[in-house]
Amino acid sequence: MKFLTLLFLGLSLFAKDPYFFEKPYLQLGDRPKQLPQEGLDLMWIGYDKDVDWTVEYKTDQAWIKATPKMLRRVDVTLTAAHRVYSAPLARLKPGKPFTYRISIAGKPIFEASSTARKPANAASHFVVFGDCAADTTGQRAVAFQVAKEKPDYIFIAGDIVYSRGRVSEYQTKFWPVYNADQADPQVGAPLLRSTLFTGVIGNHDSQPVIDFDVNPDGLAFYNYWSLPLNGPALRPGSKNTPELKGNETIKQNFLKATSATFPRMANYSFDYGTVHWTVIDSNPYVDWSSAEFREWVQADLKAASRAKWRIVAFHHPPFNSSKAHFKEQRIRLLASIFEAGKVDLVLSGHVHNYQRTHPLTFEIEPGFTLAKGATEVPGKWTLDKSFDGDKNARPKGVLYIITGAGGANLYNREQNGDPSSWLEFTNKFVSDTHSFSVIDAEEKQLKLRQVSAEGKELDRFTLSR
Ligand SMILES: [Fe+2]
Repeated sequence: MKFLTLLFLGLSLFAKDPYFFEKPYLQLGDRPKQLPQEGLDLMWIGYDKDVDWTVEYKTDQAWIKATPKMLRRVDVTLTAAHRVYSAPLARLKPGKPFTYRISIAGKPIFEASSTARKPANAASHFVVFGDCAADTTGQRAVAFQVAKEKPDYIFIAGDIVYSRGRVSEYQTKFWPVYNADQADPQVGAPLLRSTLFTGVIGNHDSQPVIDFDVNPDGLAFYNYWSLPLNGPALRPGSKNTPELKGNETIKQNFLKATSATFPRMANYSFDYGTVHWTVIDSNPYVDWSSAEFREWVQADLKAASRAKWRIVAFHHPPFNSSKAHFKEQRIRLLASIFEAGKVDLVLSGHVHNYQRTHPLTFEIEPGFTLAKGATEVPGKWTLDKSFDGDKNARPKGVLYIITGAGGANLYNREQNGDPSSWLEFTNKFVSDTHSFSVIDAEEKQLKLRQVSAEGKELDRFTLSR
């Protein structure tokens, strides 16, 4: 009997869906700001054939029709050609639940529910983790625990899909875990269909040189994600973008398919509930000492000065006590901008564990400039050790969080519980378990809990206004 159950489970995991190449998922689309009538993009992936799709959604009684559009055809090696579709769900009530269904030739084949983005004064409950789709038991257990939290949305802090962010890797490591039909700690959870995913690219999603001879299906992020396009106006081939080389046909196909997203979608900002997010590509092909980028971050934070909370998110952490990636400190170049812009939290991944700093301000060594290829940024930090995130919840400085334990193999387990191996700025360090951050952002309080893949609380603190 057990054998038959396992056989059935095995077959169903590998069985092709008759309708979807990949099942529906929700994206923010190019909607950086909250709207009186909210919107989300309902996306899904179809086989490479013409299909008579219909999309409907409802917040009350009546179904409203949305117009599906084929965004692109993805035709790369290693994976069958497929078509990415999107339908704008355009008249949602802020913070209210809705249901959608997809039909083929009038016959409903898929239905799910979610919640529209919450308005500027509303509390929100969201989850952040990075370094995740690596096809590990930890990744699947984290997905399962995250679903139990019922977050309003999820932010992935980079290194979304290992090991090269390829279309073929999304097929095996991303969709089956985060859009599993059933919640199961050994499989994953049906998150993508019902929970808005946002995120940022890391070094495994995008590299300084993308060689299409080696990675013919690389940069899949730009095929599947739909995020705000309000970052610096980058163009293919411009400075601060990855260099594309190799097979010219594949390259042209990629550029044609992703003309609306690549490379613009690498940096953006958005609002959700009481939080403003500034999202940054911290890969080494970006020069964060360049005026263009610095001014964009400054202006974005200034424009968000009335938001209750400001979060900046990117992949490579500036203040890290792990021996792994210790020298990669380039993004410290932005610390003074975060401080002046009154940033509350900086969230990163890259280092596969959990770390929290004391609130800090950072002064770069006078006269220092980052040489080409250099990664270390020396300077002096000032720490607010009186902040305890409980009785004293008003930090002097910025809190830097590393939440890179979302699934990939953990780093530096030996430093867990060994403060003598941490730098002075580190307050918490948990490297013996996979984990994720759960944040509740209310009007006067922001609470972060770090939760393990087994559902155990590892850390907790509160920020107060
Ligand atoms: Fe990374």
